[in-house]
Amino acid sequence: MSNFIDLCKRRQSCREFSSRPVEHEKLAQCIEAARLAPSACNSQPWSFVAVEDPQLVLEVAKCAQRLGINEYVSKAGAFIVVLEEHAVLMPQLRAMLDSQYFAKGDLGGAVVTICYAAEDLGLGSLIIGLYDREKLCSLLNIPIEKRFAGLIALGYPASDNVRPKQRKQMEEIARFV
Ligand SMILES: Cc1cc2nc3c(=O)[nH]c(=O)nc-3n(C[C@H](O)[C@H](O)[C@H](O)COP(=O)(O)O)c2cc1C
Repeated sequence: MSNFIDLCKRRQSCREFSSRPVEHEKLAQCIEAARLAPSACNSQPWSFVAVEDPQLVLEVAKCAQRLGINEYVSKAGAFIVVLEEHAVLMPQLRAMLDSQYFAKGDLGGAVVTICYAAEDLGLGSLIIGLYDREKLCSLLNIPIEKRFAGLIALGYPASDNVRPKQRKQMEEIARFV
């Protein structure tokens, strides 16, 4: 088990995957990590589709390249799609808030948990923001009305080079009171 801050420094968006296949067990462990993530009222407003069939993986990669970007995902070994599900909040909150009020935050947490779990398992990950949602639905048999929270490409990185992080300074973003 690695030190968590080291894991945070090592995790980076992987844009060069090797051809080494991703083991089913490692994909399952990434989803297991997300399953354990926190959520408002423990509502767990998520479900996951892991794509590991090589032909489907290629088809999903094409969905992520619709704007002529993300050409590097052609070599991804697997994908995980994170879907938004109905959240059941506690009765006191139900009266005040829309059921999905916290869901986006919960789902963001699940997405990054997958990325950190992948890193811990030696896998590279890339969150993909733009994709052909309708095509993905038809490829993966997902109801068309379903909301997507994330598409994550996974695979073994082609190199173990860690890029320096470009981040705002601590003083710019945090106050200790
Ligand atoms: C919601 C979201 C969508 C993203 N979409 C893409 C994408 O389509 N293609 C890409 O190369 N990187 C994408 N990224 C990766 C970001 O560019 C990256 O996380 C950021 O620049 C910080 O770099 P790092 O992940 O290497 O630390 C996305 C990240 C997030 C959180």
